[in-house]
Amino acid sequence: MVEKTKVETLHVDLGDRSYPICIGAGNLSQFDLESYINGDKALIVTNELIVPLYLETIKARVKNKSIDIMILPDGEQFKNLEYLNLIFNKLLEENHDRKTTLIALGGGVIGDMTGFAASCYQRGVPFIQIPTTLLAQVDSSVGGKTGVNHLLGKNMLGSFHQPAAVLIDVDVLGTLSDRQFSSGMAEIIKYGLIADVDFFDWIESNRTRLLERDKSTLITAIERSCATKSKIVSADETEMGIRGILNLGHTFGHAIETFQNYRGYLHGEAISAGMLMAMSVSLKEGYLAKGNIDRVENLLAFFDLSTKPPKEMMPSDFKKLMWRDKKVQNGRLRLVLLERLGKALIDDKFSQLSLDSTLENACKP
Ligand SMILES: NC(=O)c1ccc[n+]([C@@H]2O[C@H](COP(=O)([O-])OP(=O)(O)OC[C@H]3O[C@@H](n4cnc5c(N)ncnc54)[C@H](O)[C@@H]3O)[C@@H](O)[C@H]2O)c1
Ligand SMILES: [Zn+2]
Repeated sequence: MVEKTKVETLHVDLGDRSYPICIGAGNLSQFDLESYINGDKALIVTNELIVPLYLETIKARVKNKSIDIMILPDGEQFKNLEYLNLIFNKLLEENHDRKTTLIALGGGVIGDMTGFAASCYQRGVPFIQIPTTLLAQVDSSVGGKTGVNHLLGKNMLGSFHQPAAVLIDVDVLGTLSDRQFSSGMAEIIKYGLIADVDFFDWIESNRTRLLERDKSTLITAIERSCATKSKIVSADETEMGIRGILNLGHTFGHAIETFQNYRGYLHGEAISAGMLMAMSVSLKEGYLAKGNIDRVENLLAFFDLSTKPPKEMMPSDFKKLMWRDKKVQNGRLRLVLLERLGKALIDDKFSQLSLDSTLENACKP
C-alpha cells in the first residue's frame, strides 16, 4: 500500500472565490484533481521541459475527463499575446465550452499565462494551479494575478482571476536547478522581512536544511510563505493598499530585469539586490539599523543571491526605468520600505536624497 503523505491545507478566504492550497511531498500523484473540474473537459497547459517530468502523473489524475494538452515553448520570452493566443486556438479547435477547466502545470510563466487565458476565455472559466518552481509555489500561484508581457513592459496586460485550487508538491523541486531554487528563496525571505520576523529568524536557523532541500523544512517554509501571502491577498485582493508590501524590492528589481531584457538576473536574484536597496533607503529614512541590513545580506548571499545590481547599471538607468513602474501613482514613486525587520510600509514621502545616495552606493563598482 502506498502511504498517503500528510498534506497541509491552507485556505485563501475570498468569499465565493475562496480556494484551498494543498502542500505536501509526493501528493501530485494522489491529489483529487477531478473534484476541481466541473465539466467533462479540461486543458492542461505546460511547457516542453515539464512534459517528460510530470505530465503523465497529472494525466493519471484526470482519467475520467476528456483532456487536451497545450505544450508551450519554455521561457519568459514566450509570455506574450502571441503564445497566449495558441491556448485560445486550442480551446476553440477542441470545442471547449464554458464548463471547461484549465490546469497550469509549470512555473510562474505557465501559471500567469494559463490564469490569464482562463480569465478571458468565454468571459472566464476556472483554472487550477500546479506550480512546479519554488517561486511559483510560494508566490505566483497564489493571489490571482495573471497576465502576459508586452514589448514595452512586463506584465502590462493582465487580470485578477483566482484559481480554484493550488496543488503544491515539494518533490517536484528535486529537478529544479540550484539557481531557480535560490530565486524562489528570495521570495521566501521577503515574507519574513515584510510581515513575520519570527519566520525570518527561522529561515536563518534552518538555512542549511533549506539549501539541502530537506522536504519537511521546505514544506514549513512554503506553508508559512503561502499563509502570509493568503492573509495579505484576503485583505486586499486587487492591491488598493496593503497588498503592495508584497513588492518589497520589486521596483528596483524590475528595473534590473528590464535593463537586462530579462536575460540576466533571474527574478529572485533581481529582487534580492532590490530588497537590499529598499532597505538602504529605509536606513537613510531613519527606520532600520545597519546591523539588520548586514544580517539580511548574509542570508541572501548564503543562498547565492545577488546583493548588488549588475555592474553595467548606472543610477540614471534605475531612475528612467523605475518611473515606468506600476507603483508610480499621480507622478509619485512609491516604495516599499521596512520600518523594521518583519514590518513593511508603503512610502511616497521618502526624500529624493535617500534614493539618490542608495543608487549611487549600489552602483559603485
Ligand atoms: N502572478 C504573480 O503574482 C506572480 C508573482 C511572481 C512572479 N510572477 C511571474 O512568474 C514568472 C517567473 O516564474 P518562475 O520563476 O517560476 O519562472 P519559469 O516559469 O520561467 O520557470 C523557471 C524555469 O524552471 C523550469 N521549471 C519549472 N518547473 C521545473 C521543475 N520542477 N524542474 C525543473 N525545471 C523546472 C521552467 O521550465 C523554466 O525553465 C515571471 O513571469 C513573473 O512575472 C507572477
Ligand atoms: Zn516577485
